[in-house]
Amino acid sequence: MSAAAKPAATLADAVPVHVGIIMDGNGRWAAARGLPRALGHKAGAEAARRAIEAAAEAGIGWLTLFAFSSENWRRPADEVRDLTGLMRLYLRSEVKTLVKEGIRLRIIGERERFGPDLVRAIDQAEAATAEGRRLNLNVALSYGGRAEIVAAARAAMQQALEGGLQPEALDEASFGRLLSTDGMPDPDLIIRTSGEQRLSNFLLWQSAYAEFVFQDVLWPDYEARHLAEAIGEFARRERRYGVRAA
Ligand code: IPE
Ligand code: IPE
Ligand code: MG
Repeated sequence: MSAAAKPAATLADAVPVHVGIIMDGNGRWAAARGLPRALGHKAGAEAARRAIEAAAEAGIGWLTLFAFSSENWRRPADEVRDLTGLMRLYLRSEVKTLVKEGIRLRIIGERERFGPDLVRAIDQAEAATAEGRRLNLNVALSYGGRAEIVAAARAAMQQALEGGLQPEALDEASFGRLLSTDGMPDPDLIIRTSGEQRLSNFLLWQSAYAEFVFQDVLWPDYEARHLAEAIGEFARRERRYGVRAA
């Protein structure tokens, strides 16, 4: 069935339940203006704030923002310091707004790698926003899909050794419960900005049937209209899940 022949999508069809965004292009945005990369990241944090509000307005239930990958630790120390500084700042300054807006924040990734200070700030922000029901916001920090899958495999092995988990008892559902996204729907739509067309280790397991939208805009320039465009593109896609189209 061609996209044109597709019956008019219902609202539930048109708005993805879970959107993941690979927020890319902060460095290029800064370079284009002759600014230090740190200012690109600061502008990127403001764009994230806009995207969160736009997602809540659009009726998206889950938003996962990729903010710092497992591999980003290999960037120069001063850039890592700038990024963790921004995290510390925003974790503290945004909590009030998140609570007021009904947004529940969760951090996925290896938070321990940021040290006790930031871990405490993360734990406090998660606890303070735990009652939020309007939007579930995940921020992926020190996150890598492969590391997440290996951690889940380790946990399963541990259960086998200590708790008698039988290999046949491990299936996709029970394995999924060992991931950091336990209890969350898989992403329906994954957006990447800046023109790059790759996953860079984002939600590898969870993106099995996600739709991908690549947008040329650099992340700091991202506006509500870009999210609306991506949702519009998503609404035109026909999802088949391996089942033959009628
Ligand atoms: C995305 O912007 C932010 C992080 C990866 C932390 P980049 O810093 O990757 O920006 P580019 O890709 O160099 O333009
Ligand atoms: C992916 O962007 C990670 C984040 C957006 C946080 P990168 O800029 O790190 O990815 P590569 O290096 O272009 O693959
Ligand atoms: Mg990049």
